[in-house]
Amino acid sequence: MAKPVSRILVINDEHLVLREFVKGLNAAARSLDNPLGIGFSGVTTAKEALAAIESDGDIQAVLVDDTLYTLGKNSGSRRLQVSALELVQRITRFRPELSVYILIAQQKEDDVVDALFTESVDGYFYREERDYRGIYRILNAQIQERARTPFTDQLKNYVWMAKDQWHTPGHSSGESLRGSPWVNDFYEFMGEHVFDADLSVSVPMLDSLMDPKGVIAEAQHMAAQAFGARRTFFATNGTSTANKVIFQTLLAPGEKLLLDRNCHKSVHHGVVLSGAHPIYLDSALNRKYGLYGPVPKKTVLEAIRKHPDAEALILTSCTYDGLRYDLKPIIEAAHVKNIKVIIDEAWYGFARFHPEFRPTALEAGADYATQSTHKVLSAFSQASMIHVNDPDFREHLFRENFNMHTSTSPQYGLIASLDVARKQAVMEGYKLLSRTLALAKELRAQINSTGVFRSLELEDLLPEELRHDGIRLDPTKVTVDISGCGYTVDDLQKVLFERFNIQTEKSTFNTLTLLLTIGTTRSKVSRLYDALMRVAREKRAPRRLVRTPEIPAFTRLRYLPRDAFYCGGELVPVFDDKERVNKALARRVGADQIVPYPPGIPVLVPGQLITRDIAEYLASLLRSQKRMEIHGVVYEGYQPCVRVLRVEEEKSLRPLG
Ligand SMILES: Cc1ncc(COP(=O)(O)O)c(C=O)c1O
Repeated sequence: MAKPVSRILVINDEHLVLREFVKGLNAAARSLDNPLGIGFSGVTTAKEALAAIESDGDIQAVLVDDTLYTLGKNSGSRRLQVSALELVQRITRFRPELSVYILIAQQKEDDVVDALFTESVDGYFYREERDYRGIYRILNAQIQERARTPFTDQLKNYVWMAKDQWHTPGHSSGESLRGSPWVNDFYEFMGEHVFDADLSVSVPMLDSLMDPKGVIAEAQHMAAQAFGARRTFFATNGTSTANKVIFQTLLAPGEKLLLDRNCHKSVHHGVVLSGAHPIYLDSALNRKYGLYGPVPKKTVLEAIRKHPDAEALILTSCTYDGLRYDLKPIIEAAHVKNIKVIIDEAWYGFARFHPEFRPTALEAGADYATQSTHKVLSAFSQASMIHVNDPDFREHLFRENFNMHTSTSPQYGLIASLDVARKQAVMEGYKLLSRTLALAKELRAQINSTGVFRSLELEDLLPEELRHDGIRLDPTKVTVDISGCGYTVDDLQKVLFERFNIQTEKSTFNTLTLLLTIGTTRSKVSRLYDALMRVAREKRAPRRLVRTPEIPAFTRLRYLPRDAFYCGGELVPVFDDKERVNKALARRVGADQIVPYPPGIPVLVPGQLITRDIAEYLASLLRSQKRMEIHGVVYEGYQPCVRVLRVEEEKSLRPLG
């Protein structure tokens, strides 16, 4: 296993002093215990310091001398200078995860500490003391502290203690499988530690996810610090559950929620569970590629103005295709009306760790951010985080709702993986994301060089009405126009899978989206390029690609989704006896959420008025050759049906105004 390398940058404008410091500190690192491979290097100007921090992903800490620094020259050839305070601000804005220490002169102590009070400075040293061993010990301890994984360490300790288990889970460290003629193969396949580490709340030293006071509390606290939150909670049932927990905390039945209609289906389920009154905002559609983008800023601001009584607003940023909102003005407008802002960052959990992706939702002022750590960082599937910055956070209520949705037997491997994902993001996130960005750039160029496939840039992806909304693209989500390759998207995906062993992320009728993460390697990029190049060289005549029909516009919400959902309802077939669209469906009210995949936007939510357009749309999807998942459609024998409210049930419900 490779040993870590940790560099600490000393910044001091006096060459001789700098040399002495770097030499003294490196000597201390050599002669003392140094498990993190700490080494010191020095620069004399702010420009060099900023360049080093940008280019060297192994830098873990900076030691800044309190003086004026040269930044460069302005247009009139005058030297530009910055104070240590400004330099610290620039550094922490660029890489907030770094530890920052200041070297000060004794006589200036009070002024410096006052000036830097609000900055994220971890400590001070007197320059004159030249206590290199003391400085090294403190810096080493600080970096080790950041690299700790309190829950995972304790889990490992417990496993190595090899206690006899008289508690759940029933497999008892895998003993029930080990050596079995029937299931030992599963034990061998998964590996012994998967079973050893699968423990339960019966082990007090591993804390409790439902009432954390020990190592889980500590791990969550470290995650909050890393992601810039006041509080962080580990969720072991994905962002799907995280969204529901927040809704149930913020919204009482009947209270208004502003939401993108294109939000993930867990958001729509959260509406049913919380009893909220949803106000749907239509996201923009890029018709050329069948991509549903963010909601236009004008639409969001208008909704905030029209519904100042809303309790909360939820948006997805970035979207599955990597489009990210300019969140600050939207959040500010919501806050003026006391509307809490939740941002679903399921696809953006890494953003804090590279300036290319910032500001994060929390940095832009969001009250809540939910992140599928498992989607884009190194956590196991289902492991997510809920970050809270709400100044009015009602912890008791949140805890009740969190516990309502959390199993009393959470998978401890998931919790450990969140702890480790946080550590990795803090210690090497910047470095790995820099590599991912470089690979994304290379891949985009390679795709374009095939002459057949084309990687889409922001201008291609943005629907017209979003042109002036300050939307940006996360370059690690690469959407490829496949319309020139001579295959349908399904056939191309099949070819990539069967001939080239490549599984892609998602598609529309003429695009494929590839997801690059910190786990993407150069070899993987090369193999994909090779596959696309070979397909391109087949020079197949372009096929006519069949557009997925556009989702009909939202109709009207007659009743609260929760009220409609809990009605027994009745099933009405989508087709009549003659296989025509069933006229009886129009003007009824749906009781279920009906969601075709792709694009995953609900055509119907419970309580919504069904129109002929909607019935025809559903019928067209059901008739289509292309096999498509349509969640919410019920089959009675071969008959696809929709659950709708009975007439007498409608009479018993209070219609929405
Ligand atoms: C925008 C969005 N939010 C939430 C989720 C749910 O996340 P999880 O899979 O962590 O439950 C998804 C999953 O695809 C998603 O795309």
